[in-house]
Amino acid sequence: MCGIVGYVGPQQAGRILLDGLSKLEYRGYDSAGIAVRDNDRPIEIVKAKGRLKVLAEKTNNGDALRGTTGIGHTRWATHGEPSVTNAHPHHSNDSSVVAVHNGIIENYQEIRDKLTRHNYTFYSETDTEAFVNLIDYYYKKYSMGPIDAISKAMVRVRGSYAIAVLFKDYPNEIYAARKDNPMIIGVKDGASYLASDVPAILNYTRNIYYIDNLEIARLTPGEVHFFNIDGDEVEKESVEIKWDAKAAEKNGYEHFMIKEIHEQPQAVRDTINSLVKDDKIDFTEAGLTDEIIGKINRIYIVSCGSSYHVGVAARYNIEKLAGIPVHVELASEFRYRSMPMDPESLFIVISQSGETADTLAALRLAKEQGLSTLAIVNVVGSTIAREADHVIYTMAGPEIAVATTKAYSAQLIVTYLIAIQFALVRGRIDEERYTALLTEMQTLPKKITRIFEDTERIQWFAAKHSNDKDIFFIGRGLDYGISMEGSLKLKEVSYIHSEATAAGELKHGTISLIENGTLVVGILTQNELIEKMLSNMEEVKSRGAYVLGLTTYGNYKTEDVADFTVYIPRTEEMFTPSLAIIPLQLLAYYISVSRGLDVDKPRNLAKSVTVE
Ligand code: M6R
Repeated sequence: MCGIVGYVGPQQAGRILLDGLSKLEYRGYDSAGIAVRDNDRPIEIVKAKGRLKVLAEKTNNGDALRGTTGIGHTRWATHGEPSVTNAHPHHSNDSSVVAVHNGIIENYQEIRDKLTRHNYTFYSETDTEAFVNLIDYYYKKYSMGPIDAISKAMVRVRGSYAIAVLFKDYPNEIYAARKDNPMIIGVKDGASYLASDVPAILNYTRNIYYIDNLEIARLTPGEVHFFNIDGDEVEKESVEIKWDAKAAEKNGYEHFMIKEIHEQPQAVRDTINSLVKDDKIDFTEAGLTDEIIGKINRIYIVSCGSSYHVGVAARYNIEKLAGIPVHVELASEFRYRSMPMDPESLFIVISQSGETADTLAALRLAKEQGLSTLAIVNVVGSTIAREADHVIYTMAGPEIAVATTKAYSAQLIVTYLIAIQFALVRGRIDEERYTALLTEMQTLPKKITRIFEDTERIQWFAAKHSNDKDIFFIGRGLDYGISMEGSLKLKEVSYIHSEATAAGELKHGTISLIENGTLVVGILTQNELIEKMLSNMEEVKSRGAYVLGLTTYGNYKTEDVADFTVYIPRTEEMFTPSLAIIPLQLLAYYISVSRGLDVDKPRNLAKSVTVE
C-alpha cells in the first residue's frame, strides 16, 4: 500500500521518479506527489489528487521540476481522505525535512500532541506529517545529523513504515528507513535509487540491496551506506535480480491482468521446473528434508485473499494425498486467536508480495511458538521470505495487476508438489503413482493454453452478464476452493456483488437470494461430487437462476442442467483448480472490460496490503 521512490544521481530526477511511480501505481492510486531539489535550491514539492497521470500532466512528466535529487509517492489513503493536502511528500513546519512514507504510524496522535506542545502546527490529517515533524524536532533539538534524528524518531513511533527523507541542509542525499514495510535500494553508474518494489527500478539497475527492519540508509550519487538504529554502520551485499524488465511492461496487451492471465502457462512451467529436477521433486533449496517432512503431525496454512484460497484448495489435496490434517486460516483472524498449536507442525504462509501485514504477523506468531515455518512467496527477498525458516519461491515473475492471476496459479503448483512429496515420503503413494502425478502435472501449461481457445465464447458471455447485480459461485470440495477464487476475482475487478457458497450450504440460507435470472456459476470437476452438484444446480435453476456449468470434458450431463457450459481439459482431479480458474479469470476480466472499468487498478484496492 502506497509506493515510494527516490533518486539521487547525475540526471534530472523528475522523469525518473515518475517512471518509477508508474511501476508502483498498483500499490495505491488516489493521489501522488514528488519532491525534487538541486544543490542550492529549496526543495520543490508538487502533488496531485487522482491517478499518476494527473501529476505527470501537472509537472510535464517531471521535467517542470529542476534537480537531480528527489523522492516520490503514490498513495493508498489510510489517514485522511484522498486530497492534495493529504498527498505526499509532506514537509516539516519550516520545510527543513521533507518525506514520503508507506505504512501507518499508530501513535501519530500522541506525537502530534507532543509536537503541538512544542509549537508545531499541522496542515494535513496524515500520520506522516507527524513523523516528518518528529524527525525535524529531534534534528533541531540535538543538532546531531540526519541519521541520529531519524533513529530517535524511529524509537519514538509505533507502527510500520518505509520512509524516504530529504533534509534541506544535505543536498544530494536521501535518507531512508524501514520497519515492516518493503523497500529496496539500487546503485548503478553514479546514481542511487530506492523503491517499494523491484519493478520501479528495474529499468535502471538489477543490483539491489535489501534494507532490513529498523535500519537506516544514506544514499548519495552512486553510493549507499547502511546503519543500524544505534547509528553503527552495517555492511551489506547487493543481490542480482533476475526478473526481465519487459515482464513488468504490458507488451501490447491492453491490460496487465489479461497479459498475466496469458502468462500462466509459463508461470506454471517455470515453477514446476524450479522444483522438479530429473523427474523428482527437489525441496533441498528450501531445506525441507525427508526427515522434517516425515515428522510433521499437522499443517497450518495461513494467508490472505487469493493466497488464502490457494490454502483452501491445498487442504483438500494434502489431506487426501498425504493424509496430514490441514488447518487453513485467514491471517487477519488467526493473529487474534489464541489457537493452541501442535509443536510438531509445519506452519505454511502463502503470499505473492511477501509483505502482507497480517500474513507476516501470523508468521512471526508461529515462530514465537517454535513452529517450523515455510513461506511460499513470489517476491524474492521480501520480508516474509527473509523471516521464514524455509522458503519456496513461485516463478510467476513480477505481477502488476491488482487482481492476482499468475501468482495464484504458481502458488497452486507449489501446494500440489508439497502434497505429492509429502505423500511419497510418508508412504502414502508409491513411486509409480508419484511419477504418474508428476508426468500429468507437466501437461498443465499446454492444457491451460487450450482453454484460451474458448476465450471468445467467454467474452460473449461476459458482455451479456456485465450488468448483473449479483453473481453466485457454488462448488463442493476442491471446487468450493475454486468458487471462492472465482468470486473474489469477479467482485474485485467488476464491482458486481458476488458470493461463493459451498453448494451443500445453499439450502441453509443463500438460496433465498436467487431470483429470476440470477447468474449462478456451478463448478463440478470432482467425479464423486458431480451428481450432488447437478442436484444443487437444479435447485437454483428451479428458482429462476441462470446457470453456468464449469466442468471437465466428458461430464456432458452438465448440459442437461446448465444454460451455458464451459469445458476444461481432463486432468488428475487434484490439479483441476489450475484449469478451472482460467475461464473464471477470463469471465471476471471481460465483465470488467465490458463495464469500462479500470481492470488493473480497481477502486479502493492495492496490490500489496502492508497495513492491517
Ligand atoms: O501478496 P499476498 O499474496 O499476501 O496478497 C494477499 C491478498 O491481498 C491478495 O491475494 C488479494 O486478495 C488480491 N487482490 C486478489 O486478487
